[in-house]
Amino acid sequence: MTSRDQEDRLVARGGRIGGTVRVAGDKSISHRAVMLGALADGVSHVEGFLAGEDCLATLAAFRAMGVRIEGPTDGRLVIHGVGMGGLRSPEEPLDMGNSGTSMRLLAGLLAAQPFATELTGDASLRNRPMGRVAEPLGGMGARITALGEGGRPPLRIAASDGLRGIHYDLPVASAQVKSAVLLAGLYAEGETCVTEPAPTRDHTERMLAAFGYPLRQEGATVCLEGGERLRAADLAVPGDLSSAAFFLVAAALQPGSDLTLEGVGINPTRRGALDILLAMGARIEVRNERTYGGEPVADLRVRGGELEGIEIPERLVPLAIDEFPVLFVAAAAARGRTVLRGAAELRVKESDRIQVMADGLQALGINAEPLEDGIVIDGGPIGGGSVDAHGDHRVAMAFAVASVAASAPITVTGAAAIRTSFPDFLAVARSAGLGIEADKD
Ligand code: S3P
Repeated sequence: MTSRDQEDRLVARGGRIGGTVRVAGDKSISHRAVMLGALADGVSHVEGFLAGEDCLATLAAFRAMGVRIEGPTDGRLVIHGVGMGGLRSPEEPLDMGNSGTSMRLLAGLLAAQPFATELTGDASLRNRPMGRVAEPLGGMGARITALGEGGRPPLRIAASDGLRGIHYDLPVASAQVKSAVLLAGLYAEGETCVTEPAPTRDHTERMLAAFGYPLRQEGATVCLEGGERLRAADLAVPGDLSSAAFFLVAAALQPGSDLTLEGVGINPTRRGALDILLAMGARIEVRNERTYGGEPVADLRVRGGELEGIEIPERLVPLAIDEFPVLFVAAAAARGRTVLRGAAELRVKESDRIQVMADGLQALGINAEPLEDGIVIDGGPIGGGSVDAHGDHRVAMAFAVASVAASAPITVTGAAAIRTSFPDFLAVARSAGLGIEADKD
């Protein structure tokens, strides 16, 4: 058995959660730092970069297009920007691994380049819908062909002979689609505007501003004019709330725990999980609020107690979209019923997170009924056993957290993808008191 296979199976035994920990850098912000740093005039410095496989795929793509990037060394990058027109044609298709963010955002940038490219990825990514970016980019004059069935990757992007601005009403609340259109808009003739049906993460907008690019926000619409330049910046990446969420839940569901997570991003367009946990009765204190790298950051102290099932307000869904696997674990450990609706997007994430989570929770003895656009979970005693994460990093970490409330150890298979977003999850989990190891049998 190779070491990769060993990491594919974890055994989590629960434990006493407590202490003070720091989680890995924010994945969304790390991707954007590389992209904008690469296109800026001058040298950008990044601190707190997440060296997970997803962000490393973005980094490798820019290296393959001729950008010199030093690092990551202890989360530090030095990016020698090539300017808006400085990317070179890569020699081979760009492999985005498991990363939907890399593929969708790069589709926007590459749609505007004077050279052709092809974007591919692993089996999970090749199964994800790309029509949602190909369609608006096509409206700007890009020529993108999805080589997979039903608009799925690989994507072939033709050399551009110029894009025109667009006013695009997002049909789904997706920061990836919004960002792809805005990034293409940097190169387009005239104004590009995107209107979103509900707020989604605004890291692209914040980071464009940090690189000196003018943009205009009016209510749910953001606009920019093509043809301006990006100026190199020094960036600091906060801790990822999506990674912190695993420990927020682990601590919240264990009576008597007391855990502090330091330096976590609490951007209002990301903090839905915090608000859902607070509504479930979690005792979370948001302390020491400050601004770091243009993003709101805080230390989060959680003291465990009893959680209550709730009806999750639909307006919080896009603001907590990546945290649902572990929020479902919180629901399983809570008293009463939790109902989620309006979350069909969960079916097209790294796995079908509604089905995969329902299957896993049922395997642990929890009554979880999948709905087309959500799930109904009745809290109850969680048993031990074996669950399959289907190669989905967040599902794997969520089930490791379930062991804190379980009556026996939980074995998680298909867990190697944890490296995509949180390579030091095991070490951080152990320092927070979770008994967890790679299974070597
Ligand atoms: C992301 C946006 C979200 C999220 C993903 C990261 C981003 O995807 O699920 O993990 O960095 O823009 P959608 O845009 O598909 O909602």
